[in-house]
Amino acid sequence: MTNGTYDRYRSAIEGEQMPLAYVDRAALDANIRTTQRRAGELPIRVASKSIRCRNILAYVLEHDGFEGIMCYTGTEAAYLAEHGFDNLLVAYPVVDRTELSTVCAAVADGTTITLMVDSPAHVECIADCVPEDSPTVPLCLDIDMSTSHFGIHFGVRRSPITTPDQARTLATTIANTAGVELRGVMGYEGQIAGIPDDDPSNTAMMDWVIRRLKSRSIDRLHARRQAVIKALAEAGHELAFVNGGGTGSLESTTDDESVTEVTVGSGIFAPALFDGYRAFDYEPAAGFAIEVVRTPTDGMVTCRGGGYIASGTPGVDKTPTPHLPAETSLRDAEGAGEVQTPVKYDRAHELSLGDPVVFRHAKAGELCAQFETLRVIEGDTIVDRHSTYRGDGRCFL
Ligand SMILES: Cc1ncc(COP(=O)(O)O)c(C=O)c1O
Repeated sequence: MTNGTYDRYRSAIEGEQMPLAYVDRAALDANIRTTQRRAGELPIRVASKSIRCRNILAYVLEHDGFEGIMCYTGTEAAYLAEHGFDNLLVAYPVVDRTELSTVCAAVADGTTITLMVDSPAHVECIADCVPEDSPTVPLCLDIDMSTSHFGIHFGVRRSPITTPDQARTLATTIANTAGVELRGVMGYEGQIAGIPDDDPSNTAMMDWVIRRLKSRSIDRLHARRQAVIKALAEAGHELAFVNGGGTGSLESTTDDESVTEVTVGSGIFAPALFDGYRAFDYEPAAGFAIEVVRTPTDGMVTCRGGGYIASGTPGVDKTPTPHLPAETSLRDAEGAGEVQTPVKYDRAHELSLGDPVVFRHAKAGELCAQFETLRVIEGDTIVDRHSTYRGDGRCFL
């Protein structure tokens, strides 16, 4: 990224109040194309948690290969259904009765909303909320894809279902429960999709270890996913889809012949954490701008706001990254602050009061949880303003 891009963004947002969030249309389009190429023949489900803006979801879904949304709550799925979206998969279990009733109502209105389960208790909870004479609610079985290497747990801690037998037993429970039906299986390999393996903040040795662990894990998790799908087919359970992967794992997920669709969210905005993968390159497509309000010393400005820290294990990698102008950085002693963020900069590019400093969020969707509007920048102009979920007055988690 050059200071040409900085100048372009500065012209685009001139006269706008900061802080503000933006998406760069050309970079967004490039990321959509990269995702299409990486997914090959498989349909791509968009992970809404990494977008959190209806217009952008709709825009992505207009492109070839993108089909359906992976939602993060039932209330969100019902909200998207209200706005005409369909083929919605809620990727995380919902146990709240009010929320489940809202989903059941949306299903009764004709939207396909598939709910995630990994235990008989989940199935019972959902079935209890399906009114009599209502259409059945489709369910998806979440299979644990984590693996263990030399006693190290590699992967997320979500579903307890790790064997074909356990999957078959739960599928039978679903088949025997009124009001619900089995529609799909999801096996999310978080340890491949969500862990950078070419990370400048890692040592070369650490990256090497992660890549070795990943490659060992991939063989095992593919075998497990395939065994589960085979066992379900042999037991007569027909599946509409087998979902796998995420932005970081498309190259390997598409190699598993049991997978019928992949999920991508983060790759669309390409936040800073997704720079650290060897297999692909996305373009920074979204970020936020804060304004210079003081100059504490030479080579340093202090901006208003900026402390939009990402979720996950706390660490420097979860803080926003100064992006533009080039050669800007945070102070180790302060980081990005709640109300004031000092930024060190290269004096070749002078910064004055009121100038923007452009940052990237560490994670994708959390940007839109902090801002009400996404400015769409094309060239050096704002061509659109999209309301985020937050701008819609909605906060699902
Ligand atoms: C179930 C599931 N699938 C896929 C993804 C991948 O999303 P992204 O492409 O935003 O990394 C995630 C992210 O956490 C997830 O939880």
